Amino acid sequence: MIMETIITSRAADGTTHIAPMGVRNRQGLILLSPFKPSRSLDNMCREGSAIINYTDDVRVFAGCLTGHRDWPLYPAVKVCGKRLENCLSHVELQLEHIRDDEQRPELLFRPIYEETHAPFRGFNRAQSAVIEAAVLVSRLHMLPREKIETEIDYLKIAIEKTAGPREQLAWGWLLQRISNFYAAQAEERLA
Ligand SMILES: Cc1cc2nc3c(=O)[nH]c(=O)nc-3n(C[C@H](O)[C@H](O)[C@H](O)COP(=O)(O)O)c2cc1C
Repeated sequence: MIMETIITSRAADGTTHIAPMGVRNRQGLILLSPFKPSRSLDNMCREGSAIINYTDDVRVFAGCLTGHRDWPLYPAVKVCGKRLENCLSHVELQLEHIRDDEQRPELLFRPIYEETHAPFRGFNRAQSAVIEAAVLVSRLHMLPREKIETEIDYLKIAIEKTAGPREQLAWGWLLQRISNFYAAQAEERLA
């Protein structure tokens, strides 16, 4: 099973890099597999640590893909780095093993500290729709336009029926990103 989370990692200049990433449990250890090139990968290998942020604020997922990365942060307890201040819970990770690969290395981490900050209040379909749309946006350059548009049309139903203000804002950012991407492609074709 893969859980979609926000990974925070410490950049060389001490700032915090924020990126959505899937995490898998491997007998008590945590497996991350970032595609190269990746700033998260560079940071995690250099620092030997990372932080999993579990959040239901889908603006953070959509924001990472649309240039909105300015989320409140709070210092971690055991690793040198910061977590999302408003996450539901977070897990601090220490790097144990790297299996390098030209395309997608695997990083195995040991959880060394975990804290819960707020309760989980249930599933919301619009949140899932935003996560799915964010994945599509992260693959705009790889997927056919027709697939993107068909899937967005379907996901829109959950947004219209169940979204709150956060989900609506995140959805708007993603739709804008998709339309900018195809507008830039059309301009390139004309040039
Ligand atoms: C829900 C979600 C899950 C993602 N999971 C991964 C992942 O497991 N590995 C990966 O390389 N990118 C993943 N991505 C895409 C990255 O977040 C995105 O490409 C990001 O920019 C990673 O590059 P960076 O480390 O340089 O920021 C995911 C995106 C979304 C929206």
